[in-house]
Amino acid sequence: MTQTETRKDEHVKISLESDVSSHHNYWDDVQLVHNALPEIDKEEVDLKVDLFGKKLGAPVIVSGMTGGYSKAKKINENLASAAEKFQLGMGVGSQRAAIENPELMDTYGVIRNYDIPLRFANIGASQIVLWGHEKTLENANIMIDMVDADVFVVCLNFLQEVVQAEGEAHAKGCLNAIKNLAEDLDKPVIVKESGAGISGEVAGRLIKTRIAGVDVGGAGGTSFSAIEHYRAKMIGDKLHERGGITFWDWGIPTPSSILGVGEATDWKLPIIGTGGIRHGLDAARALALGANAAGIAHALLTPASRDEKSTLFEVEAIIKELRAAMFLVGAEKVSKMKDVGVEIWI
Ligand SMILES: Cc1cc2nc3c(=O)[nH]c(=O)nc-3n(C[C@H](O)[C@H](O)[C@H](O)COP(=O)(O)O)c2cc1C
Repeated sequence: MTQTETRKDEHVKISLESDVSSHHNYWDDVQLVHNALPEIDKEEVDLKVDLFGKKLGAPVIVSGMTGGYSKAKKINENLASAAEKFQLGMGVGSQRAAIENPELMDTYGVIRNYDIPLRFANIGASQIVLWGHEKTLENANIMIDMVDADVFVVCLNFLQEVVQAEGEAHAKGCLNAIKNLAEDLDKPVIVKESGAGISGEVAGRLIKTRIAGVDVGGAGGTSFSAIEHYRAKMIGDKLHERGGITFWDWGIPTPSSILGVGEATDWKLPIIGTGGIRHGLDAARALALGANAAGIAHALLTPASRDEKSTLFEVEAIIKELRAAMFLVGAEKVSKMKDVGVEIWI
């Protein structure tokens, strides 16, 4: 196994076996105002949305997590089966492992066998800086073909890079690399954080490029510092074991990040609200703050590492909860969620 493959395997294993959540889930600080007279029927609630020109059955994205080592194929298959059944968007984890070792392509490419309306390819931002523009374009097209992607995701993961022993914290020139990629790639490019959030100031710089959307990937859910803390502990690396604890809760809470990015971009770019979404009620909270869809990672990783049945159950439950929450605030369609009452204590 290459170092990248081993790391992807360890990330999933640690996420499943240890508590890698932030100490506070900020969705608990966001409450939807109950509408005692919703004046709609629950079954009338329409969850369908258009995102990046594709029609989704519900405003939910299976967030990019894995691929790149043998066991990831089954996890992606279980997630893809649920994304097909409920017509959700789906991402895969960073495809760097398959660029380094093409034999791993099918651990990501397995999702091509499913009728998923919106698929995301994925690469870390440090990687595109290291590759340079021409190589990035070439590799991006390989990654897009690999999963038949509609949208290309550049993942900002500098928190992870900085707390990881072997991390590559190359951030200089990153905005320019994103700008050039968004101009020259044939598919839409979006920028995603992986758990530390995107501020209004950063969104203000990103909107000057041709990116097509933002996944805020905020704090409150999976903490990559926590994951790297446990990885360092496994190999007796005291320095990074400690760093992982220090930065465990670093980042902009997902609800604040949605609001900050929305205001900075004048709500002109689609926003995916990822980070700490545990169920359909959290997804409804993200929509009420202005997100166009909710992204879910860890809550789906656990069932997907078990089997297809558990994954389908989890997604069905999330969608039922989202429908229930929309009914209880009197929103018969997703676009109405922006107008419902919300109380925020962050
Ligand atoms: C095991 C694991 C691996 C991940 N790998 C990636 C990745 O390769 N690329 C990426 O953009 N995000 C990755 N993420 C981040 C998720 O997409 C998501 O942004 C983050 O986990 C926050 O969502 P959550 O709180 O629902 O888990 C990963 C998450 C987990 C749990």
